Amino acid sequence: MFVSWYLVLLSAILGKLCHGIKPTHPLFYGRKPCTLTDTPANPGMRGYNGIYWGWNPDIQNGAMISAINSAAGKNASTIGLFSQINSPDGYDGHQLLSHLDAVKSSKATLIASIMPNGLSFDEVTPAIATDVANVIKKFTDEGIEVWLRFAHEMNWYVRAGTYRGNSTQFIQAWRNIHAAVKDIEGCLLFWCPNNAKTVDLYAQWWPGADYVDIVGMDQYVSSSSSTFKTAYGDFYDAYAKKHNKHMAIPETATKPADVDVKEAWVYALSNKNVSGYPCFKSVTWFELDKSYDFRVVMGQSEGVRDWTMSNFW
Ligand SMILES: *[C@@H]1O[C@H](CO)[C@@H](O)[C@H](O)[C@H]1NC(C)=O
Ligand SMILES: *[C@@H]1O[C@H](CO)[C@@H](O)[C@H](O)[C@H]1NC(C)=O
Ligand SMILES: *[C@@H]1O[C@H](CO)[C@@H](O)[C@H](O)[C@H]1NC(C)=O
Repeated sequence: MFVSWYLVLLSAILGKLCHGIKPTHPLFYGRKPCTLTDTPANPGMRGYNGIYWGWNPDIQNGAMISAINSAAGKNASTIGLFSQINSPDGYDGHQLLSHLDAVKSSKATLIASIMPNGLSFDEVTPAIATDVANVIKKFTDEGIEVWLRFAHEMNWYVRAGTYRGNSTQFIQAWRNIHAAVKDIEGCLLFWCPNNAKTVDLYAQWWPGADYVDIVGMDQYVSSSSSTFKTAYGDFYDAYAKKHNKHMAIPETATKPADVDVKEAWVYALSNKNVSGYPCFKSVTWFELDKSYDFRVVMGQSEGVRDWTMSNFW
């Protein structure tokens, strides 16, 4: 008798801990990953081809979320913010939390790029994963949808020495994160390698379809004739289509960052017909001035900014 009451109480408490509230403006949450039907539509910015659009704002250079929304004249659908786990002792997420109110008032979905910089993959324990989950829950509890982009560009950052560990250890770290966030309403787990020469090179970093909600890949194109198909077609087929997953591009721009090349790429992603790729739904531009001026709105001439914005509803 005592044991069963105890279990009822325990599950009630766990239920409270695990379930939050649904997103106020769902973008991917609760939707079928690979369909062109997208109702109710999210109120954020979209290209003429229906692709949801947003920004990685240049926060460190003072370009705040409200400033970019006001310069664009439309509210971003997604906002990408970066944060580092700096030690194996814990994670407080302050780099994300300081923008909670701004994300909420703009009605954007947050792409939270949480980077394990100060610890090895092996040190991403269930305790660290719980810290990450607690930060995410602060956003989802406010009705914000969060795409948790954990250890993005792992295939690149391991080579650069920014992340430490191999792909086996990465997958274990990923699964610990998954276990901690899987029951948070409004949180989707986003797997995102860096562009590799051939599509088979991603396979060792794939955590498995059961552990991933959104797939994407970061790429900076260099040709003004690039299309979604030339840049992303193979990745789309191998991950989004094959596994029936939402696909989003969370970071892209061009190198070189010539205005013509940037504008051609914006046009290709926001205006060209991509209905043949029904899992592909969202782009978040790298709107930063960092080694190149990747931006297409902030700090640009009025002509450039207006041309950029002429691609969006
Ligand atoms: C757009 O975002 C700003 C904050 O960046 C907010 O004040 C405003 O209410 C938002 N507008 C709409 C229509 O959601
Ligand atoms: C990663 O390292 C661990 C420990 O040394 C080892 O057991 C595992 O096989 C390695 N995985 C790969 C893909 O090299
Ligand atoms: C877009 O492409 C699809 C096939 O991929 C085609 O069925 C559709 O008619 C095209 N739409 C427009 C407006 O060209």
